[in-house]
Amino acid sequence: MTPVTVRVPAKVNLQLSVGPRRDDGYHDLMTVFHSVSLFDEVTVWPADRASVRVTGQDASQVPTGRTNLAARAARALATAVKRRQSAVQIEIRKRIPIAAGLAGGSADAAATLVACNELWQAGLTQAELSEIAAGLGSDVPFALLGGTAIGQGRGERLTAALAAGTYHWVLAFATGGLSTPDVYAACDRLRDAAPVAPPELSTALMAALRSGDPAAVGLQLSNDLQPAAVSLRPDLRRALAAGEESGALGAIVSGSGPTCAFLAADARQAGELAVALTGAGVCRGVVRVQGPAPGAAVVPGEPG
Ligand code: C5P
Repeated sequence: MTPVTVRVPAKVNLQLSVGPRRDDGYHDLMTVFHSVSLFDEVTVWPADRASVRVTGQDASQVPTGRTNLAARAARALATAVKRRQSAVQIEIRKRIPIAAGLAGGSADAAATLVACNELWQAGLTQAELSEIAAGLGSDVPFALLGGTAIGQGRGERLTAALAAGTYHWVLAFATGGLSTPDVYAACDRLRDAAPVAPPELSTALMAALRSGDPAAVGLQLSNDLQPAAVSLRPDLRRALAAGEESGALGAIVSGSGPTCAFLAADARQAGELAVALTGAGVCRGVVRVQGPAPGAAVVPGEPG
């Protein structure tokens, strides 16, 4: 059997509205996911023993044992399709930083589902893969789908969003990561038991996305986790301010952070923003990306 390689994007949240903490510890969300052109690549081969190898960005910090989310994805798919010889060698080439609010681990899990479905010729549909994905993590189904989509429930119930145009972003990576559960816990603490309304979709954001006007979208970006992320990482305030002062149409913490995402008017302004953010010394690195990007997909023609 020849190996299968899948390319999978990172995401930002254009809206992340967080409802009250549920009895199961999760929070009901209303979110608008948007995939961006920062990709990890995952290759799977049949093997006698399961293994995970990680190279690239933050590779040394990714666990390579059974707990690795990609390894769990391969096992979950093998169970779902009742496959007996299910050991695979997984190689993850990372460009998405870990614990960054960009759903990199979820992306690798989604890529592994698509890759093993192809390797084993299991024939599961996108909807069937999405159900397995939801069991692995709240953001995994969206990494399968890509594009721009509304997420409800824990974030796993998806509806494609009507969005026009291409959006130019600069992502500013922070030194170190943030743990998603820690950020949700900080959000609960900041709310201090005040009543929290059920999260609602921003109709203004949806109208802006339909118009394809980045200036309109920039005004409507929102993230309920941002105060919590900034409370844990006060240095993010400087990064957000530097982007705003340099003319970003919108400046926001991505998901649970600490990556900050800046929306530019076009490719040229994204270049200027990237230079300004680097010069301001407010982050460990920047990358220019475009959204929406396609979800996890097999890379054709991989040599055997
Ligand atoms: O689903 P996932 O494992 O990616 O979530 C990681 C953690 O993020 C959860 O354990 C929970 O603490 C928090 N979370 C949440 N509400 C969500 C999604 C995630 O509280 N909707």
